[in-house]
Amino acid sequence: MNDKNSERSIILIVDDNQTNLDVLFELLRNYGFKVLVALDGESAIEQIEYIHPDLILLDIMMPGIDGFETCLRLKADPSTRDIPIIFMSALSETLDKVKGFQTGAVDYITKPFQHEEVLSRIQTHLTIRNLQQKLEEKNLELAHLNQNLERLVEQKTKQLIDQEKTAIIGRLTQGMVHNLKSPLQVIQTSVDLIETKATKIQEDTFLNYTKYIFQAVTKINQIMDTLMMKSRKEQNQDLHPVNINDLVQREIQLLEGNLYFKNKIRKKYFYDEKIESIPLIYSYISQVFYNLINNAMDAMWERKSRELTIVTRQDDSNIYMDIADTGCGIAPEDLSKLFDPFYTSKPPKGEEKIEGEPTGTGLGLYTCIELLKPFSGEIAISSNLGEGSVFTVVLPKQPKN
Ligand SMILES: Nc1ncnc2c1ncn2[C@@H]1O[C@H](COP(=O)(O)OP(=O)(O)OP(=O)(O)O)[C@@H](O)[C@H]1O
Ligand SMILES: [Mg+2]
Repeated sequence: MNDKNSERSIILIVDDNQTNLDVLFELLRNYGFKVLVALDGESAIEQIEYIHPDLILLDIMMPGIDGFETCLRLKADPSTRDIPIIFMSALSETLDKVKGFQTGAVDYITKPFQHEEVLSRIQTHLTIRNLQQKLEEKNLELAHLNQNLERLVEQKTKQLIDQEKTAIIGRLTQGMVHNLKSPLQVIQTSVDLIETKATKIQEDTFLNYTKYIFQAVTKINQIMDTLMMKSRKEQNQDLHPVNINDLVQREIQLLEGNLYFKNKIRKKYFYDEKIESIPLIYSYISQVFYNLINNAMDAMWERKSRELTIVTRQDDSNIYMDIADTGCGIAPEDLSKLFDPFYTSKPPKGEEKIEGEPTGTGLGLYTCIELLKPFSGEIAISSNLGEGSVFTVVLPKQPKN
């Protein structure tokens, strides 16, 4: 019976009967246990403060505090409550056994002892205690691993969010730059022309160029204003009656500074002269118009027929602005994706395969939808792949709340 448990385990025997103590002491020492003894409950508790035994054999009837009380005190102390306690007593009444278990003992042996029984119970409880300790260690290890894992997941998630944020900011910046590019180009072209033809230039042409520059600067200011993301209240203050015909005509004037628009595209305009003015934010609608025209121009890039048709019309409820192109068109399966932020069929800037190829960030249409929201405006699309598209801006005369 001498096994691993007995070789390293410390057992404390608590009994006021010297004969009993001697018998058990001899028995357990012969089996390789390290044995400690105490003659009463109080001295047992004192001793345990210095050396923690692996198991306690505890007599019930003792002078001073009895075995039950001793057991209760040991179980109440977190540093000793896990030490298994086996009660030993001459009392064989069921009531005592129940009370013993209630105070937290793991087992109960009755005197006079059967040596084999005592040893086998001790071995069993030491084994259980060993397994319990191992389990606790494993649990602790697991908790540590879990904690590390959680920290790692947290770190990784933060890293991914940061990366995503940086990517979004990068793409947003690209979008802004893209929107600012066109009016800046107008300024650049006008300044170039003034410089190269400075002496020959006629006064009215000169004034035309400065007008372009002035309009382009206004445009840049408007774009910047929109980027500042105004509050609903601020938006309401900016609402003014806008005649969509005037808006289109002014924007087209500005676009004439773009040479591709001016020289490479056939244009047709149909205005409903009776169109009503409705409260809008001018700069929002002009940006929507500008984005749609840009898309139309991109769609017609390197195509044989490049015809842009702009129509304004109205019915009882809405004002409409159609922008039709004879560009590449859109496949039916792609229609639902167009308004998703960052959806684009164009290469990003710097990754063009052919020189002059249009680039995109995929924010144009998404921005349009956001800009139309304050007026309950919408965009409807009809398109034939390979033939062209019509983008219609629908503006309710009475905005829905
Ligand atoms: N008139 C059009 N003809 C054909 N396809 C179009 C047209 N307008 C939009 N699209 C498709 O919708 C996509 C998304 O348009 P959107 O304006 O949101 O982004 P983008 O033009 O690619 O980039 P950007 O942010 O520079 O405007 C385009 O990449 C294109 O595939
Ligand atoms: Mg676009």
